[in-house]
Order: sequence, then structure tokens, then C-alpha cells
Amino acid sequence: MAVDIEILDSIATVTLNRPEALNAFNTEQLHAVIDALRQVRDDKSARCVIVTGTGERAFAAGADIKEMAGKNVEEGLAFGRLGHAMANTLEAMAKPTIAAVNGFAIGGGSELALGCDIRIASENAVFAQPEVTLGIPPGWGGSQRLTRLVGPGLAAEIIFTGRRVKADEALRIGLVNAVYPIDQLMTEARKLALQIVKNSPLALVSSKALIQLAFNGQTISGLETEVQLFAQAFGTEDQKEGMSAFIEKRIASFPGR
Ligand code: CAA
Repeated sequence: MAVDIEILDSIATVTLNRPEALNAFNTEQLHAVIDALRQVRDDKSARCVIVTGTGERAFAAGADIKEMAGKNVEEGLAFGRLGHAMANTLEAMAKPTIAAVNGFAIGGGSELALGCDIRIASENAVFAQPEVTLGIPPGWGGSQRLTRLVGPGLAAEIIFTGRRVKADEALRIGLVNAVYPIDQLMTEARKLALQIVKNSPLALVSSKALIQLAFNGQTISGLETEVQLFAQAFGTEDQKEGMSAFIEKRIASFPGR
């Protein structure tokens, strides 16, 4: 399985481990990540969860474009729902979650980090929601959770342009809470988790539920609309062109239909 789990001092660390594709999520990897998240969710010895990527290049480079390129509307819907299940598992679990973003967090990678309660990043971290450059809208929660976190104006700019957000900007706009040199990222993530797990487990569960109540009513209905529009994009020529262009390493020319 391309996901590693370690539980130490009541802290579970889930590490994405598919470096040959910069931890991009194909269907198999999505299932592996969801299974790992459910495992740590149900393990009573884990009271806080850190999610990270292996190595120093990528947290996760998003949905696997090579798999996604050939999908139709129905398959796009299933893929969207599977991506939702990943971030929703993090958001719904009754223990605090921390994303330790160690490099690229693009598309579905950014959306995985957005499913966590807290994000910290390495100095080389780069966030983006580049879906529109591939002929699709964000489909794994980014349209809702990025907007909720940084506000609609910034989310619109980031999503409409598909541009990169480097660590210093991510810190400034509240996308991450702190930035560290890459070799200190996991130490700092564990320090933060240790500070959390010494507190009352019951009060933490209530606090997480209460923080989510501040927004979640709107997010749940927004997520359903997101996955439907994501699926519809797989019936367009824009999606075929956008993803073929990525695979063929050329600039896309979108017909707009
Ligand atoms: N899907 C499939 N393969 C991917 C991938 C992805 N998302 N991202 C990287 N890879 C592969 C590359 O194709 C490459 O494989 P080959 O060596 O076989 O060509 C390998 O990983 C290494 O990548 P690069 O050579 O491109 O590495 P780089 O350092 O030059 O660039 C990068 C890194 C900027 C992250 C670049 O890989 C990139 O732009 N990747 C695509 C990112 C992206 O657009 N993700 C969003 C997908 S859409 C999405 O996630 C939708 C959603 O809402 C669910």
C-alpha cells in the first residue's frame, strides 16, 4: 500500500508514499488513503492525526491526471465522490487533524490539506487549485473549503487563475498557520500534536464539532453541487483538451464546449 501509518505517543502519522507520481491520487491510492484514515480514526490509541507526504518534494500533486483524462461524466462523479470521502473522513473524525505540507499541495493535494483542522507547511510548500487549466472545476472540496478559509475574493482569484500560492503567501492569507524549514516540519508537527493530545479528549471532540458548526451547514450542500459540476465537466471537450495537454506536456487550447 502506498500509505504508511505510524502511531507514537498517541499521535498517528499518515504518510502518502507514492513518490514516483508526486503522491498523486489514482483510484487505488484514494482507497488506500481513505482506508488509512479510517484505521487511525478507529484506533483508540491515536488521539491526534498528522497527514504528510513522503520526501521533500510533494505533499500530493492532486488527482492522477493520467487516470482522470479518460473518464466520462458517470466516472467523474464516482471519482469526485471518492475524493470527497477522503477529506470528509478527516473533517468528520472526532479527533484533531494536522496537515504537514511538505512541498507541492496541488488540486486534490490542497483539498486533502483543507480537510484537516490545522495546516502547517515547509518553506518549499506550494499550494494551487489548477483545475480550470485542465478543463474542470475543483471537485474534492476545494471550492467550498478554500473559500471558507481565505474568503471568496481570494478563493476566486486562486481558483480562476490556477496560480501557485507559495508558503509565505499561504501564511499571510491564513491558508497555513506556520511555516518551517523542511527539516523541522515533522518535529514541529509532532510538537503541536503533543500540545493537543495532553488536553481533554472529550473537550477536544466538542471543540472540533463546535468549530465546524460555524460553517458546515453551507459546506455540506456546497459539496454536493461541487461534485455534480465536477462530474459534468467530464462530458466536455474542454476536459479532454485540458488533460491531454498536461499529459502531452503542451499548453491547452480550450474550445469552450
Ligand atoms: N497526475 C499524474 N501524474 C502526475 C501528477 C498528477 N496530478 N503530478 C505529477 N505527476 C507525474 C508527472 O507526470 C511526472 O511523471 P513522468 O516522470 O512519468 O512524466 C512525475 O509525476 C513528476 O512530475 P514532474 O516531472 O511534472 O515534476 P515537476 O517538479 O516538474 O512539477 C508539478 C511538479 C508542478 C506538481 C507538476 O507535476 C504538475 O503540475 N502536476 C500536476 C498538478 C495538477 O494539476 N494537479 C491537479 C490535478 S486536478 C485535481 O486534483 C482535481 C480535483 O479537484 C480532484
